[in-house]
Amino acid sequence: MPWWRSAVFYQVYPRSFADSDGDGVGDLGGLREKLGYLELLGVDALWICPIMRSPMADGGYDVSDPRDVDPLFGGIAALDEVIAEAHDRGIRVTMDLVPNHSSDRHPWFRAALRAGPGSPERARYFFRDGRGPDGSVPPNNWPSIFGGPAWTRVIEADGRPGQWYLHIFAPEQPDLNWENPEVAADFEQTMRFWLDRGVDGFRIDVAHGMAKPEGLPDMANPNSKMFGHDDEDPRFNNPGVHELHRKIRKVMDEYPHAVAIGEVWVDDNTRFGEYVRPDELHLAFNFRLAETPFHPDRIREAVDHSLCAVTTVGASPTWTLSNHDIEREVTRYGGGPAGFARARALILLELALPGSVFVYNGAELGLPNVDDLPEAALQDPVWERSGHTERGRDGCRVPLPWEGAQPPFGFTAGRPWLPMPPYWAQLTVERQLERLDSMLSLYRMAIELRSMRPEFRGPSLEWYGSPPGCLAFRRGGGLLCVLNATDAPILLPAGEVLLASAPITARKLPANSTAWLI
Ligand code: GLC
Repeated sequence: MPWWRSAVFYQVYPRSFADSDGDGVGDLGGLREKLGYLELLGVDALWICPIMRSPMADGGYDVSDPRDVDPLFGGIAALDEVIAEAHDRGIRVTMDLVPNHSSDRHPWFRAALRAGPGSPERARYFFRDGRGPDGSVPPNNWPSIFGGPAWTRVIEADGRPGQWYLHIFAPEQPDLNWENPEVAADFEQTMRFWLDRGVDGFRIDVAHGMAKPEGLPDMANPNSKMFGHDDEDPRFNNPGVHELHRKIRKVMDEYPHAVAIGEVWVDDNTRFGEYVRPDELHLAFNFRLAETPFHPDRIREAVDHSLCAVTTVGASPTWTLSNHDIEREVTRYGGGPAGFARARALILLELALPGSVFVYNGAELGLPNVDDLPEAALQDPVWERSGHTERGRDGCRVPLPWEGAQPPFGFTAGRPWLPMPPYWAQLTVERQLERLDSMLSLYRMAIELRSMRPEFRGPSLEWYGSPPGCLAFRRGGGLLCVLNATDAPILLPAGEVLLASAPITARKLPANSTAWLI
C-alpha cells in the first residue's frame, strides 16, 4: 500500500511556524530546527504551504517564480536542508504548488501587459475586452473570492484604459489559461524541478478551478458569499479540469513514490470522486468534516459522504479539521473549555478513520482562532478587498507559541508578523510537553497508537449501535471508536480502553469526548 494512503500529514504554514532569522516571519531554517519536534509528534509527512518566490500579496499563493524559494523563507538551499533532514528522520516532504494563477509580478504577466491585445503573451492569461460602449463594464459578472469583481482593467501602452484580465482571487493573482499548451508545459517543468530535488509530492492549490467554462458565461448568482462554494458556480469544477489532472498524473507516475493531493471544494460525491480516479489525483481534500458542526448525526453524514465519494473509484479518503483558510476547530466548536474538549474528541475520531489525516500546525496545541487581532495588523487581502467588512483568515494564522511566559513565545527573536495573545503562555509546546493531559500529548499518543496497532488497519468501517447523541464505529482491524456528543457521561461498551480524550472513571465516558476501545 502506498505510504500516503494512511499517512498523517502535518501542514506547515511557514510564515507562522518558526522564525530562525529574527525578521518576525517564519522560515525554512525555523522549520529545520523544529523537525525533532515533528518527529516526536509522530507525523509521516509535511505539507509546506507555498515557499516559492512571491511578492506575498496572498501569503505566497501569488507566485512570481515557481522554481525558486523566496529569500524570505531562506532560499532554495534552506529547502534542500529541510528535505535532507526530514528524510533522515523518516518524514516525507510535500510542497504546495499553485497552477491556477501566477503573481502579477511573474515575468509572463509583465510581458502580457507590455505586449498588448491579441498577443501570444496575453493568451497565457484571460485578457478580454470590456462590455459597454467604452469597454468599461467587466467582461462578465464574476466576483472575486476575496471580494470585488474578478476582473481588473489594465492601462495599455497608449496610456488609455484597455482590456480586462481575470483573477478569481486577488488582482495580484491573474488566472492562467490552461488551454494554452505553454502553461501546462511550464507546470510540468515545475513539478519535475521539485521532484528531482527530492520532494515527495505536492498539494495542488485550487485543483478544481484550473479549467474555465467555454465563453466565460455570467454567473446565475454573482452575490454568492465570499469563500462560500456551491457546485453550480461556473468558476469552478468545469469538466475540462480532468484532462489537466490526467496530464499531471502522467508526470507524477514517473516518480512512483510521490503523491499529488488536490484542493477540491466540490460537494457532490460523484463529481468529487472524479478527481481521484486512477489516472487523476492520488488524493483530494474533502472538507466535509471541517464544515460539520459538533453534532453526531452531521458527523456521521460527513464521514459517510467522504467515504462514499472515494470508494466508488477505488481511491482512499482524506480527513481534515482545519487549515490556513478555515477557522480553528476549538473556536468552531464553541470556544472555551467545551470547544477545547470537542476538538480533543474530534481528533480522536478523525485519527480512528481509515485514510490520510491532515493536521494544521497549531491544532496539536489546541490553539483557538484569534478573533480580536487589531485591525492595523490584518494582512489577508480579504480585509482590504471586502472594504473592511470581512476580517479574513489571519485569525487562524497567528504564529505558534513554543516556549516561555510571554509573546512571542520563542517563535521569533523579533516582532511576530501577527501579534500573539499573552494567554497563549498556557498553550506553549514547552508547557504541553510536560503534561500528559495536554492536547499535544493526546496527539502524540493517538498518532503513535494509530501507526503501531493492528486494530487500525484495513479500509473498512462499520457503524455500531449507540445511544442518542453518540456515535460509534468499528474498524475492520477491530478498533471501536465511541464519541459522546451529549452533555452527560455515558456508559462505555465492553472492551479495553486504549485512549480517551477525557478521563474515564467507572467506565463512564464524559460529555464531549471520544474513547478508543479494543
Ligand atoms: C487556496 C489557498 C488559499 C489561497 C487561494 C488562492 O484556496 O488555500 O489560501 O488564498 O487558494 O491561491
